[in-house]
Amino acid sequence: MSTAKKDYKRITVKTLVDMKEQGEKIAMLTAYDFTMAKIVDAAGIDVILVGDSASNVMAGHETTLPITLDQMIYHASSVVRGIERALVVVDLPFGSYQSDSKEALRSAIRIMKESGAHAVKLEGGKEIKDSIKKILNAGIPVMGHLGLTPQSIYKFGTYTVRAREEAEAQKLREDALMLEKLGCFAIVLEKVPAALATEVAQSVSVPVIGIGAGGGVDGQVLVTHDMLGMTHEFSPRFLRRYLDLYNDMSNAFGQYVNDVKSKDFPNDSEQY
Ligand code: KIV
Repeated sequence: MSTAKKDYKRITVKTLVDMKEQGEKIAMLTAYDFTMAKIVDAAGIDVILVGDSASNVMAGHETTLPITLDQMIYHASSVVRGIERALVVVDLPFGSYQSDSKEALRSAIRIMKESGAHAVKLEGGKEIKDSIKKILNAGIPVMGHLGLTPQSIYKFGTYTVRAREEAEAQKLREDALMLEKLGCFAIVLEKVPAALATEVAQSVSVPVIGIGAGGGVDGQVLVTHDMLGMTHEFSPRFLRRYLDLYNDMSNAFGQYVNDVKSKDFPNDSEQY
């Protein structure tokens, strides 16, 4: 099995399945706006997730629940305008697919039509089977999301690791098999024990992309603002920070304030 990075011109749902078959890990990050999407895409990211984490990161809400379908479409269309290569997946927000499958399909169609994205992601297993089926039947690719599903935070009560107990682990195994059978092209596994995630990844033919699910899965996803160190108050064990942008940006802003106040900025060459 080769782990070399292939030079794909455009990532499709089929490319991701090929990557799994060839043992090439899938790199996925979030983006919510044009500028970030452009940088992330140019860096060679395979999948850009317009996550409902925008509710936390962009809007400052405590949970992902308040973000609306219209707001997700706004973020997604901005991201789509910034990309050339990556597959763009958009979260169906809380309340846009749980009540019935017709509403789920209407929401998914709005995302695809109004943003130009390539796929949608839904949180949950057998409880939302009918919605997933309906969306897939309309020709819209679906990414599943199991384990810690933040839209259910008030049911869980905490953001701690899921599926440590056998009953929940067994449900997760069954849900993953069901998502594969329905035709989902990939599954996100969030915050579950690494051994369980590895087992699930080996049991399905579609790629399993982990966040806090260890290295035995087929790819990794992080929230871009977290991995850049912009959200310094959030430090789960699984998070690797590649920059300390919170400090770098604070220093730059502070320096700008000083330069303006001290009349150092603008200087002679910075004016007309
Ligand atoms: O909304 C999001 O950013 C997500 C990832 C954490 C997987 O769903």
